[in-house]
Amino acid sequence: MKLTIFSTILAACSVLVAAQANCDRRNQPSTNDVKGAIRDWLADVNAVNAFVDKAPNVSSNQASQALQFAKREPGDLMVLSRICGVSGRYTAAVADLNKVFGGVLTNLQSIVNNSKNAPTAVANINKIRCCNVLPDLDVLWREAAQRYRIQGQVQTTVPRPRACASVKC
Ligand SMILES: *[C@@H]1O[C@H](CO)[C@@H](O)[C@H](O)[C@H]1NC(C)=O
Ligand SMILES: *[C@@H]1O[C@H](CO)[C@@H](O)[C@H](O)[C@H]1NC(C)=O
Repeated sequence: MKLTIFSTILAACSVLVAAQANCDRRNQPSTNDVKGAIRDWLADVNAVNAFVDKAPNVSSNQASQALQFAKREPGDLMVLSRICGVSGRYTAAVADLNKVFGGVLTNLQSIVNNSKNAPTAVANINKIRCCNVLPDLDVLWREAAQRYRIQGQVQTTVPRPRACASVKC
């Protein structure tokens, strides 16, 4: 049993090391790129937080506006995922975002399509954001800001919508 756990950890570590070894140092973002990505991402998080905080009384038009903001987040992720020499937690957060973020977009789209979908879709969005996306951003923003020494210039605490207080993860 101990050996199995150890082998699993070892396997996970070599995957992370491999991911880092492939990092292209010539393709890393500039300090301005990183500042821009974190600031843009903060605006997107605030817009989606404001949207889910209005739920379930939300219109398809409001969902459409929130979706425009949310759609910018994968671009910001692309910038922050080009940083080399990051921690295993950072690499894991990038991988998790790549895995779960599509669910936020799909659920926003389903409210754009029909506002009657809002109660279920907002519950899905809150679960994905409160349990995965926003905790992942805690890791990314802080570590990226530390590496680029811009802690005082960008926000590194990720704001939560009110719903996160009651979502069980
Ligand atoms: C929902 O929003 C509509 C339109 O803004 C408003 O008229 C209505 O009172 C709101 N209902 C609730 C329960 O907040
Ligand atoms: C929204 O509507 C479009 C067009 O009717 C459809 O292709 C898409 O699958 C729908 N998306 C969701 C998440 O319901």
